[in-house]
Amino acid sequence: MPKILVIHGPNLNLLGQREPGVYGTLTLDEINARLREYAAARGAELEIVQSNHEGAIVDALHGAREWASGVVINAGAYTHYSYAIRDAIAAIGIPTVEVHLSNIHAREPFRHTSVIAPVCRGQIAGFGWRSYILGLSALLEG
Ligand code: DQA
Repeated sequence: MPKILVIHGPNLNLLGQREPGVYGTLTLDEINARLREYAAARGAELEIVQSNHEGAIVDALHGAREWASGVVINAGAYTHYSYAIRDAIAAIGIPTVEVHLSNIHAREPFRHTSVIAPVCRGQIAGFGWRSYILGLSALLEG
């Protein structure tokens, strides 16, 4: 059975309340329930982690080496500047898909850069919570 690590980075615990015009009205728990349902229907298991701390995200990536066949990560603002998360993704060598709820390329210039994109299999941005579904699809059906 494929096992996928889903990582939600900083501030994503506030989904539903946080800038709903940009990030949607679903809470993180509601999104996670939809992701689990999607994965279960495809015979896959998810481990889902949310952290506001860069080191905890690095630790979660390292831990994935032991058991995960893929990673879906929304690194939040760390996307734009965390070389530590970038290096962790490169180090573990597990297929990783970068996802974003919003279209980062249509927003402020600082969001146009992703330092993790070069070490990910691909990037999905702009489809709201469905960006995560598309990320899972890329790993499970791609
Ligand atoms: C985000 C986009 C980032 O620029 C932002 O810092 C986030 C969320 C997204 O999902 O659209 O926290 O990753």
